[in-house]
This record gives sequence, structure tokens and C-alpha cells, in this order.
Amino acid sequence: MKQLTFPLLLEPKAMKRMEIFPLMRYMGSKYKLIPWLHETFSELEFDSALDAFSGSGVVSYLLKSMGKEVHSNDFLTFSATITKALVENNSTLIEKSDIDFLLNLEVKSDNFIETTFENIFFTRDELIFLDKISQNISELTSPYKKALALTALFRSCLKKQPRGVFTISGNLEKYDDGRRDLKLSLKEHFLEQTKLNNKVIFDNSKRNVSYNENIFELKNPNLSPDLVYFDPPYVPPSDDNCYVKRYHFLEGLSKYWHGEKIMKETKVKKIQKKFTPFSYKKTAIQAFESLFDQFSESTLVLSYSSNAFPDLETLVSLMKNEKSNVEIKSKPHRYHFGNHATALRSNVMEYLIIGRD
Ligand SMILES: C[S@@+](CC[C@H](N)C(=O)[O-])C[C@H]1O[C@@H](n2cnc3c(N)ncnc32)[C@H](O)[C@@H]1O
Repeated sequence: MKQLTFPLLLEPKAMKRMEIFPLMRYMGSKYKLIPWLHETFSELEFDSALDAFSGSGVVSYLLKSMGKEVHSNDFLTFSATITKALVENNSTLIEKSDIDFLLNLEVKSDNFIETTFENIFFTRDELIFLDKISQNISELTSPYKKALALTALFRSCLKKQPRGVFTISGNLEKYDDGRRDLKLSLKEHFLEQTKLNNKVIFDNSKRNVSYNENIFELKNPNLSPDLVYFDPPYVPPSDDNCYVKRYHFLEGLSKYWHGEKIMKETKVKKIQKKFTPFSYKKTAIQAFESLFDQFSESTLVLSYSSNAFPDLETLVSLMKNEKSNVEIKSKPHRYHFGNHATALRSNVMEYLIIGRD
């Protein structure tokens, strides 16, 4: 995936940081819309922000780069691990001695990954590598080093999947187009990704926090952000939008599958999907209503794309229940991601719905 280059915008320093942010291929990621989000956030007055559905962490990192106190949240542990490593963490790096420790493959480890994913994902040696490095990561005492090592590992694993998802298994040769990402070993990727992580750690002089909660349960009394950014999943016109189906391997890896139940009958050994009301027509409208009510004290910014349910009019009217001033910004956008040919090329209008008092 190409790194972004941005024209000099309002805050060249923030945009420079975004140019080195290691991108991750993630369904619905807003990385291509970062300049637009940056412009929009720059027009609003706020010191603290909650990125309620942080996904790849790119928007949280933008907010951090803009000098805001950032609270990030995602109910997937692997997403929350990324923001712990790159947003909450203001100074911890992975040092040479940590690398030596992490890459000690002589260590005794469980062989859960090797036995569970044999002939499904990766080679046998790579599966053993993942068991060993997971053991070493579990022994790190610094939570930030743990999060950094896992973040490097997530990106490494994803880069080795030809289509950037864990829905297909077995012989992937037909997808091998000679890409460098497919040629590099997991260990080589890991070393590269660790360096990239180290480059983007910085202190924005704020106490940033990463949460791993269902958004409706994020009711911390100390959390009263000036602005909340929402980028939830939307009910798609076809297919589904299940993140666990696509990224179950990374979610499992984030906790070495502890507390997760593998669905043994599935080809790719998925874990159970997590229910979110945003994915179903029956529950989505009520979910938005509750969400806006939960954060009614804050400025609200909602990302929305035109090919989804509920429609723009409904969302605007729901936001108007809580906010007296609701503004819509729009921009044509092309998503290059999905599980089938049509999703790979969907042209949509991307909206930002902004609610203020
Ligand atoms: C569209 S993605 C966010 C993408 C992100 N803005 C980015 O640029 O990478 C939606 C995210 O919402 C998360 N999610 C879905 N339902 C949730 C819930 N009820 N509570 C917290 N997170 C949820 C998913 O795990 C997913 O990462």
C-alpha cells in the first residue's frame, strides 16, 4: 500500500507526521480522507476528542498530531492495541535489546498457532515463529512494548495475506503477483514494522488513552471529550461488514486466543463474531439515537457514506434531536476494498455530519 503524500495544509507539522504513519489495509479505513478530516477538524474548536470506532487508528493518530488529548476506542482488542502503541504511548520504543529478546526462537512455547492454522495461513515455520514470538511478547513487562510488538506483528501478518483479509486459506499461489510484501518473511516484516512504529512515537504533551470497549459501555466519568468522532460500520447494500470475519486471526493473536472460542467447523478457524447494532437494519437507527444521546454534551462529527443504511436524511434528523446546529460536508470517494469485485470499486459520496450547540 502506498504511503500518503499530502499537500501542505493548515498545519504542516501534523501532515508531515501523517505521511510517515504506517498504513494498514483495513476495511472502511479513512486514511485517504485524512486531509479532508484534518481540514474539518481544524475548523472546529476543541482540545480533547474521542475517536469512538478507531479501527486502524489513523484518525486517532491525526488527532494526536493536531495536539489534541485523544481518547480512542474500539471493541476489537487488536484495534485498541494499535492505538495503545501509537497514540496512548508517548515515549516508549522497541530497542535493539527488545528485538533480541523477541526474536529468541529457542524459547519454549505453546504450539497453539502451529496446530490450529496448519495449511490454513502461513507456512509451518511462520506459524512456529508466531507461537514463539507470542510467548516472548507475553513476557515483556512494559504494556507499551507489548502493544508495539503486537502492532508490528498484526501489520506483518496482514501484509502476507494476498487480499489483506483472513477469509481465504490454503493455496494462495494464484494471488502471488510478485509483490514484495508476499516475498518477505514474517520476521523480515516484523523488523521493518518495528522500525516504522518507532519513527511515529512522539509526545504531544497530552494524556491520551486507548479503550477497548463496546461504545455503549464506555461510560467513564473522567471521559468528557469536547468532540466525538464516529465512524461506525454501516449496514452495507450487499455482502456484510463483519470485521471479525475478516480479521479474526489478528483479534485472536492480540490475546493469543485466550477467552475466544474457535469455531472448529469453519475452514479458516474463525472466532465468534461480535454483535454490533450498527450492522443490522432492525437495530441501526436506535443505535445512532442512543449514540448521539450518550455524547450529547460534545460536538459530534459523524462519517457516513452514501451507499449505506440509514440514509443521510434520517441521520441528520437524529442528530438534530440533540444538536441545534447540524452541518453536512460532502466529497466524492472511491473505496478500493471489499470482499468481492463490486466492493473493490465502489464510488460513493462521503459525508461528514457535524452537530454543534
Ligand atoms: C469503519 S471502522 C473504523 C475505521 C477507522 N475510522 C479507520 O479509519 O481505520 C468501524 C470500527 O468500529 C468498530 N466497532 C463496531 N461496533 C462497535 C461497538 N459497538 N463498539 C466499539 N467499536 C465498534 C469495529 O471493530 C471497527 O474497527
